[in-house]
Amino acid sequence: MSRSTEQADLPPFNSTAQFRQTLPPNPQWTFGQPVDATPAGKAWVAGEEAGWDVVDADTEDKMKLYALMLSGIAPRPVAFVSTVSETGVENLAPFSWFNMVTHHPPLISISSGVRSTGDKDTAHNIKATRGFTVNIISETWIESANACSIETPADVTEWPLSGLTKADSIYVKAPRVKESAFSMECELHQAIDITDPDTGAHTTTLILGRVRRIHIRRDVLAPGPKRAVDPERMRAISRMGDITYARVGEGFRLSRPVWVEDKVREAVNSVASNATP
Ligand SMILES: Cc1cc2nc3c(=O)[nH]c(=O)nc-3n(C[C@H](O)[C@H](O)[C@H](O)COP(=O)(O)O)c2cc1C
Repeated sequence: MSRSTEQADLPPFNSTAQFRQTLPPNPQWTFGQPVDATPAGKAWVAGEEAGWDVVDADTEDKMKLYALMLSGIAPRPVAFVSTVSETGVENLAPFSWFNMVTHHPPLISISSGVRSTGDKDTAHNIKATRGFTVNIISETWIESANACSIETPADVTEWPLSGLTKADSIYVKAPRVKESAFSMECELHQAIDITDPDTGAHTTTLILGRVRRIHIRRDVLAPGPKRAVDPERMRAISRMGDITYARVGEGFRLSRPVWVEDKVREAVNSVASNATP
């Protein structure tokens, strides 16, 4: 695929970058400690001197609001969704308004904008045939997945243009993507038509999918007894604003705090008593 003007002057992809885990930015942080207690925190807080913009979401131009929310609510995971229409046309498309809803029952959400002609093929097919697969995209084949965001007519399948390989699903009719190291077979749990509160127009379809089977390639699992995906091996991509994707470059480990009342209060009091008036 040719390079667009939006990619001009960019350096090539860094294929040798490696994922590693580090300590968190401020391992000495204690309960109650203000952000500006560290030099990095101080610099962050000083950014406020540039002032604030407040966007009125009620009156802002819809496309500007779209671009702002896409860049602000980021990074987002990306669902690469495989569906089948009622006439058997197999569809593939990426969706970044996507997340895990709960593990009990195992549910995921995908949100699909509505075109002037109605639901996108993905939402239409899920409503019609109920079964679909969500495939997580790794760096090495992002171009193949991105190509499927092309708007083909409903009767044209994206599979041949993607160069990707179909693998049979067990529970649903829609195939999974063989190149994906983590795929979920899902069935429609609920489809919610989101409407404009002022006009009542159907603008978006929120799909809640119940996960019925998960296929994981063994080589992306972290060593050890827990069945967990290793980010270094998985190399999952995420979506930022506009046409930017992000990769997971580095991780840091930070434990979840435990409520031990005396210790928490003592830490907060100690920070407060050391604060300069
Ligand atoms: C990375 C990426 C993420 C996307 N996320 C969404 C999304 O969350 N919701 C949406 O409606 N469209 C999203 N799109 C656009 C759809 O992929 C695009 O409209 C596609 O043509 C829909 O295909 P379909 O009509 O075959 O379902 C995204 C595109 C890209 C490249």
